[in-house]
Amino acid sequence: MKEELLELEKKARRELDSLKDISSLESFRIHYLGKKGLLTSMVRKMGDLPPELRPEVGKLANRVKKELSQSFEKTLERLEHEKGGATSFLDLTLPGREPLRGHMHPITQMFREICDIFMKMGFRVAEGPNVELDYYNFEALNIPKDHPARDMQDTFYVSEKVVLRTHTSPMQVRVMERKQPPVSVISPGKVYRRDSDVSHTPMFHQVEGLLVDRGVTFGDLKGTLTSFLHQMFGKETALRFRPSFFPFTEPSAEVDIQCILCGGKGCRTCSKTGWLEILGSGMVDPEVYGFVDYDPEIYSGFAFGIGIERIAMLKFGIDDIQLFFKNDMRFLKQF
Ligand code: PHE
Repeated sequence: MKEELLELEKKARRELDSLKDISSLESFRIHYLGKKGLLTSMVRKMGDLPPELRPEVGKLANRVKKELSQSFEKTLERLEHEKGGATSFLDLTLPGREPLRGHMHPITQMFREICDIFMKMGFRVAEGPNVELDYYNFEALNIPKDHPARDMQDTFYVSEKVVLRTHTSPMQVRVMERKQPPVSVISPGKVYRRDSDVSHTPMFHQVEGLLVDRGVTFGDLKGTLTSFLHQMFGKETALRFRPSFFPFTEPSAEVDIQCILCGGKGCRTCSKTGWLEILGSGMVDPEVYGFVDYDPEIYSGFAFGIGIERIAMLKFGIDDIQLFFKNDMRFLKQF
């Protein structure tokens, strides 16, 4: 029986070495190592041997089985490698894959740029809630009960007394409530209005500014905003302060910049006027000081609200505001 086993091993090895493909390897396995294979049936026959021979033959059978199994695995590896051939060839000269790199959203980039400019002028940043009390959003800003901005058509109401803020101006009141002058803060954030078309989205962004101290004049307002806009758009950009009205500033002014897309000649973006409105501003109305315990005989100040999407559209030459919020990678990747 010992000779039989050794003979079997020899034969099996020879066969393994000459195998050329994986499918014939499987029939080899079944033939020699399988449950009904030669080796198994030989081990079964060991029962017929005289007991004193069994341990020795058993040991030999185990060794043959173990080593044939190992050779079988090796042959499998060899055949797979041969089959893989060219496809598993590693080309070290191929360029590496570039990992996808993220970056800041264009609106965030604008926020940072604007805040940086004002921070260099000494303004500090204060952020406020998006879900705001009617009191801060309207009442304390001298916006009367019958003002159209309070209409359900224009404002998202959370409840009778709570709204999604329609502008960042409530931060003026929140800041003045907490601190006596001098104050100089800017407040970037999201605002909400029930509006949606190519130039309006239900959520957009503003940066509010407020400066109150002794002896602040309209000249300070003009100087501050002029300096900001020149840093933002370049010193050559022409500006225009146009009289306007807001319930919480008096006098009020809207600021236009010369259309940077057509250079003031008139185009679609500026509706052929050559000018683009980009912020609202004014001297804080004494009525508002009444809500926050500031003495209007001693203090004066100015406030402004900048529309971020407007500025981003001009800076990047984009003509559809909706693009900012569609999360289309083809658009966002360009910044
Ligand atoms: N809150 C105003 C708006 O959203 C802008 C503004 C801010 C005007 C501050 C004057 C002073 O249109």
